[in-house]
Amino acid sequence: MTERLTTEIETTKKGLDTLEADLAACFVFQGDKEATGIARRELRSSLSRLMAEERFEGRRGEYVLWYTDGAYPSRRYAVIGFGKRKNFNPGALRDAVAQAVHRAEAVSARSMALSFPPGAGAGLSPRDRTQAVVEGVLLGNYKFDKYFNEPHKKARPLERVTIVTDAPPAAAREGIRRGLISSAATCVARDLVCEPAGVLTPTEMARRAQGLAKQAGIECRILEKKDLERLGMGAFLGVNAGSAEPPKLIHLIYKPKGRAKKRVALVGKGITFDSGGLNLKPTGHIETMKCDMAGSAAVLATLLALPELKAPVEVHGFMAMTENMPGGRAQKPGDVVRTMKGKTVEVNNTDAEGRLVLCDALAYAQQHQPDAIIDLATLTGACVVALGPLASGVMGNDRRLSDQILKAADVAGEKMWPLPLYEEYSDMLQSDIADLKNTGERWGGALTAGLFLQEFVDEKTPWAHIDIAGPAFMEREVPLDRKGGTGAAVRTLLRYLTDGI
Ligand code: BES
Ligand code: MN
Ligand code: ZN
Repeated sequence: MTERLTTEIETTKKGLDTLEADLAACFVFQGDKEATGIARRELRSSLSRLMAEERFEGRRGEYVLWYTDGAYPSRRYAVIGFGKRKNFNPGALRDAVAQAVHRAEAVSARSMALSFPPGAGAGLSPRDRTQAVVEGVLLGNYKFDKYFNEPHKKARPLERVTIVTDAPPAAAREGIRRGLISSAATCVARDLVCEPAGVLTPTEMARRAQGLAKQAGIECRILEKKDLERLGMGAFLGVNAGSAEPPKLIHLIYKPKGRAKKRVALVGKGITFDSGGLNLKPTGHIETMKCDMAGSAAVLATLLALPELKAPVEVHGFMAMTENMPGGRAQKPGDVVRTMKGKTVEVNNTDAEGRLVLCDALAYAQQHQPDAIIDLATLTGACVVALGPLASGVMGNDRRLSDQILKAADVAGEKMWPLPLYEEYSDMLQSDIADLKNTGERWGGALTAGLFLQEFVDEKTPWAHIDIAGPAFMEREVPLDRKGGTGAAVRTLLRYLTDGI
């Protein structure tokens, strides 16, 4: 999987001013007057003068760029702002590095050298710090370009990046290796989310999953429509009813070489296009709904990386794939479906389809007797209202599991925040004619969605639900993510599965 990333990355203990690169970037905290890591006084003072002249303050994303005209080994030197020292964290480190990469792209640089001030470790170990920098480089450099013809619109990955670091060589090497793997996995998810829904149908997703699983050395089983019928997945099939494309339930299995510490199930929402069904989405809400399979893409991308990372746990991935369409056979508001678990659900809104496919996928995952279940879904607009477009909401029935995920997210530099599943709100899901209805009232929509899912997991099994509706797909560019699919939750899951259990 890492072969797709062609940038050569190395570390060195040499000073930035001795390295040869098209762009040499050093980072400073807000308020710092001088660029650190540069031994040569003349170079340092030239940069300081420029910083003062351009009223550079070291704010997040701020930069100055100096052309050396051959006076120093690198063609250009940049100073890039980290923002306030007290707000600094592993995410900010990745963002700043990605910003440096964007500067390099803007001037067509092919090679880069990077140097950091003391305190830029963001509380990470030397290995994890190196990994963070590598992710900043590779994720900042990503572009989904397969549909462009014009050469200038094609991605041009950097050829070489040199990271100045005092990390011990073994730690640096392992950080680079992990950074490459997690970035490649993230980009697999990004590619899938960016792919138009007309191309990436459930059948095409199954085909790609099979090919990628084979390459990675993990098992891949595909459950067809008739299998879902046999299993009694009435809720999943109800969502599929209005679509001309058959559904697929993709089951991926990774087993570690030795004895597994635990068995974890990952369950992903895989709506390859969410039109809303007969509760059709209006203009302004429907255009980006190819992104509604981002949970399933994160599951696939994560599983593909586990063999290389030698994760110590057995992991089962379940991807619940279907379109949500308003065809002639579509389910109708007011219909009642029978779930695999036996509970009946009144579908009062066909646009709350994610929980309908997930409830059957969760029940199926549960049958494999996992020690923990984590589901990932672009589930509710309400979660985006609550936390904004950059953060995922984490809910569940087990404090320890949620805490482990939140901690992994911090180290991975992803924004995740806990949301509560108050029992009182489950009253909103009472139906007049079935065991449950699929939507509650207007308020607390992220929570009632979570409460609905909770009905389908065994209360003795630790379970977490991550609503990635905000960060899975960017509508404006942020440092680490271009517009489009982001690969949200992949890095967090990898961190959790390798070091967080
Ligand atoms: N896929 C959407 C949620 C979504 C919204 C994802 C924005 C990404 C960005 C989900 O299926 C949906 O339509 N949810 C409804 C639920 C409502 C009908 C209870 C929503 O959030 O409006
Ligand atoms: Mn929907
Ligand atoms: Zn949806």
